[in-house]
Amino acid sequence: MLALFGGSPVRTRSFPTWPVFGGAEEDRLLATLRSGQWGRLDGRQVGELEQRFASMHGCRHGIAVANGTVSLRIALLAASIQAEDEVIVPPYTFLSTASAVIEANAVPVFADVDLDTFNLDPRAVEAAITPRTRAVIPVHFAGQPADMDALQRIADTHHLTLIEDAAHAHGATYRTRPIGSIGDMASFSFQSSKNLTAGEGGIITTNDDERAAECRSIQNCGRVEGGVWYEHHVISGNYRLGEFQGAVLNAQIERLAEQTATRDANGAYLASRLCGLPGLFPQSRPLDCTRHAYHLFMLRLDPARFGATRDAVLPALEAEGIPCSGGYGYSLPAQPLFRHKAFGPYLPAVRDRLDYSRAHCPNSDLICRQSIWLEHHLLLGTRADMDDIALAFEKIHQHRDRLGTR
Ligand SMILES: Cc1ncc(COP(=O)(O)O)c(C=O)c1O
Repeated sequence: MLALFGGSPVRTRSFPTWPVFGGAEEDRLLATLRSGQWGRLDGRQVGELEQRFASMHGCRHGIAVANGTVSLRIALLAASIQAEDEVIVPPYTFLSTASAVIEANAVPVFADVDLDTFNLDPRAVEAAITPRTRAVIPVHFAGQPADMDALQRIADTHHLTLIEDAAHAHGATYRTRPIGSIGDMASFSFQSSKNLTAGEGGIITTNDDERAAECRSIQNCGRVEGGVWYEHHVISGNYRLGEFQGAVLNAQIERLAEQTATRDANGAYLASRLCGLPGLFPQSRPLDCTRHAYHLFMLRLDPARFGATRDAVLPALEAEGIPCSGGYGYSLPAQPLFRHKAFGPYLPAVRDRLDYSRAHCPNSDLICRQSIWLEHHLLLGTRADMDDIALAFEKIHQHRDRLGTR
């Protein structure tokens, strides 16, 4: 019997929790505390992190910032985005991918995602290009690289800046190339849920020396290297990351490669177990994805084929001892922010002609209704943990008649 109706659950043990931390974090934090050098202008932790993170991700430059939202905005400013320029983004992503565009006083234009990979569909990107398009922000959703070769071709043809939103993709590779080094710039997040975390934080990576200098200046009040201290060259702000966060991240980064390898192996195994069940479609993995960061293990459940709805399956999975969620409730254009064009002081000249209710993103809408998310730390354990997750799905499928199909 399903645990939801009083049967015994598949699993009673907990999964690995997040964040993982230990003596290395304590040592670095304490040393930073005792040094009295708590800000990045005084200490060495953030500088060390920038170098290590950038080189792990195939880049000469890393510019650490306060979070993975301002990192996107700073990258857009460094790409010389001007008022009312258009930037193509996916509708299936966290708010920041699009809100950062508005906060750069530019217009987010939504191009649909692919129904199987959940990543930006290059054909939809091409169809969304206008004479005002200046940039594209693909998200490596759930930690799986977007179709970067196709997107790069489009960017080259139309002279667009390609900014990777790699908030989910620390340590992922595309055709063995590190994510973060493929577009013109990339943005990562270190917020609590992310695969590398200090509670909050972000970083921009790039191999472009000029853009790196611009980003560095924008995150530090418009100062320039070697410049006079109270001299400010561009519109900017204080977006610096603090030394305590740098200290935690320098300890966390030691574990990243091993954790990524574990997630990747477990995720691939779990996908192979689940794709045999009718109506379950784990994120499909192109051969180009040589390492998946699995920030999320994500799948789509087609209720007609599975025999029960996603919304009925979620509580049944929880009851079997598998923590899960349905992810985003709806695509970004349906958010109140976009429906009401609540853009504050931004985009005054074009706001009247923008109508996000006409954004066409049927794949994203369907994924919102049918997706199931498992968080990355569930994949940090053993293959036996994956077997439990697969068993829970199998059990629910076996007893699907007890669950709703509407
Ligand atoms: C795809 C994506 N982009 C950007 C962000 C923003 O990162 P942060 O929360 O560090 O501002 C997130 C965070 O949840 C995200 O999931």
